Amino acid sequence: MRENDLMIIENFLENKEEALDIKDEPFEKLMFFYKSALKELETQINIVKDEFKIMYNYDLIDRIDTRIKEPKSIIKKMEKKKCKKTYLNLIDKINDVAGIRIVCTLKDDIFFIRDLIREMSDIHVIKEKDYVTNPKKSGYTSYHMIVEVPVRLTQRTIYVKCEIQIRTLAMDFWASFEHKVKYKTEQEVSKKASKELVTCAKMINKFDTKMVSIKNT
Ligand code: GTP
Ligand code: MG
Repeated sequence: MRENDLMIIENFLENKEEALDIKDEPFEKLMFFYKSALKELETQINIVKDEFKIMYNYDLIDRIDTRIKEPKSIIKKMEKKKCKKTYLNLIDKINDVAGIRIVCTLKDDIFFIRDLIREMSDIHVIKEKDYVTNPKKSGYTSYHMIVEVPVRLTQRTIYVKCEIQIRTLAMDFWASFEHKVKYKTEQEVSKKASKELVTCAKMINKFDTKMVSIKNT
């Protein structure tokens, strides 16, 4: 637990181990921090998008999506992780309450964007997962970063966690399709379908690599 995380809740909760109640005021207040952090991050990424378009005439970023995790999904995830449903655990264990997805055209741009984020002086990168170099067993391919974003309140600045997913258009197409048929619904998908999805992911990977080589010729 980081000092800043503690500060967030100490202000609003008398008992840090208090059980989470999604209909309660502290929950709403906590969500305000995540929403503010996400706005801040989205603005910064949008500036990068516009900068590359306007200054360098290059569409580095194709699309930016943001979302705040549904309260019900937060609860579900805490149950899945088997952690006690307290505010403290929500802040500490759930990294994707605020999420931003950056979709680009080329695979190389993923790492370029990753480096730009690493260099942002007021964004703290706390974790990275490179599923581009090492795709998940499902075939899922994306670059993940957990960052802390400063939210400037009138009295002080607090740092709030956000999850960043960076992927190409092709990876995004795969992920959203696979998500529909499998990931979120937890539907039993046949072994054959799962295998085919992995094959598709590999094809997409080849396709993404080819696009980079076409660009470089
Ligand atoms: P979750 O508890 O599922 O969030 O995973 P995690 O904490 O181990 O982190 P991970 O980086 O593996 O996944 C974070 C997010 O990536 C998920 O919430 C999904 O949005 C996305 N994701 C991860 N694996 C898959 C997958 O196999 N398929 C799809 N479509 N999305 C995935
Ligand atoms: Mg998630």
